[in-house]
Amino acid sequence: MFPRAALLVTVLAALPATYAFWIFGGTQPLVTTRLDSIVSPGIVSTHVHSVVGGSRFQASYDYNDLSSSQCSTISVQEDRSNYWAPQLYYHDQNANTFTPIPTSFNIYYLQRPGPANERVQAFPTGLRMLAGNPLRRTNNASNFEDQAISFHCLDSQDHTGDPAWDERPDFFQHQCPDAMRAQVFFPTCWDGNNLDSADHKSHMAYPIQNYNGGDCPASHPVHLVSLFYEMFVSVDQFPYAPGNWVFSFGDTTGLGMHADFQDGWTDKGLLQTALDQCTEANGADGDVSACTVLQPYINRDFATACKPEMTIPNENVGFTGTLNSLPGCNLIWSDTSPKPTCNPNPPTPGFVSVKTPLPSGWAEVGCTVEGTNGRALTGASTTSPTMTKAECANFCAADGFPYAGVEYGDECYCGQSFSNGASSNTVGWQECSTTCAGNPNEDCGGPNRLTLLYNPSV
Ligand SMILES: *[C@@H]1O[C@H](CO)[C@@H](O)[C@H](O)[C@H]1NC(C)=O
Repeated sequence: MFPRAALLVTVLAALPATYAFWIFGGTQPLVTTRLDSIVSPGIVSTHVHSVVGGSRFQASYDYNDLSSSQCSTISVQEDRSNYWAPQLYYHDQNANTFTPIPTSFNIYYLQRPGPANERVQAFPTGLRMLAGNPLRRTNNASNFEDQAISFHCLDSQDHTGDPAWDERPDFFQHQCPDAMRAQVFFPTCWDGNNLDSADHKSHMAYPIQNYNGGDCPASHPVHLVSLFYEMFVSVDQFPYAPGNWVFSFGDTTGLGMHADFQDGWTDKGLLQTALDQCTEANGADGDVSACTVLQPYINRDFATACKPEMTIPNENVGFTGTLNSLPGCNLIWSDTSPKPTCNPNPPTPGFVSVKTPLPSGWAEVGCTVEGTNGRALTGASTTSPTMTKAECANFCAADGFPYAGVEYGDECYCGQSFSNGASSNTVGWQECSTTCAGNPNEDCGGPNRLTLLYNPSV
């Protein structure tokens, strides 16, 4: 989807190439929703986030829950951590509508021992942390915390030496023809005791010499692997005008960019072994598949097919219809005055299962294969722009069919039995990964694949 090779080149230029690193590149969001299990545990959070990683992301969870995720949108499936950042929206200022801008992530694991050459450590089990600040309105160029947040504008033309195109702490004043990256470098030094702290920051610190490398201070002596996110947003898919880019919390400056991390690696020994063995000498210069320790755990089909498992706030965040306002209380906020408030506050949505519940009596059999020379289910069929598994089950039940199969996102087939050599034998779940037309968080079959549903009492 994105020119990954080109992305890597720009980053290699910005980072010293003397240390090993790998990238979980092109990682797709698991879910886009108004949750933040670190800052707003158990409740609807103040603004919408784009979340990648383990499929059990939810309002509140612990490491054991997260690490039991069915899958991860990270290619290495043993990494069931969650990584998230605020969703960027396109604001059509004439129509006053908001559209989520397509987003993906490059997650970097960088080995950056300081001059003292400490051994770079895996994340302690269950570590949580936050970088950046949604309320930030100014930039302090000598502060590591501020330096750790930056934007990069991508174009096929070379703009070297043009200050309007330099990496900067806030949004560009022009279009980014090949998309924009919002970048966050996390603090890498850990206090050795606390997996979290009240501000989700003070158990971590930036190194002494630099935000992105150096020795750890005595207060935070444990040098962890350095974490760096590039949130890749396809701003080029929308017309540019000042103010057209707005973060989910109302910010049109970009200064409030921030990001969260919740560790969910299932096997800390694996991550530590990778850090110890996947050195630059062993070819680990960004390409995770060159790390022979992690390579056996890469499953890109699982990563692409991975969908969320849990509950989310019951609201449209822009994928099932145009928004007239940002979800939550997030009015446009473009200056240094306090964040605008709402009167009255918009109502807080309840929680719903990410998957539309099936009607009573129906159960999901799994992913099955179409007939060889005709349809597997030949009783009745329909297509719908609001298709879900539940909608298909209801359609087939109304016509008296016990089998229902959804295919390729919006197609529904019904039958009394299987035709054309098909059967209820299932294949790998990842083969049925086309997103349902009516629910962005649910799978409805695939090409030549039916997600099969059955109700024995129809
Ligand atoms: C900017 O950051 C530096 C380093 O953290 C700090 O010493 C200084 O006081 C900050 N300046 C302002 C105006 O906040």
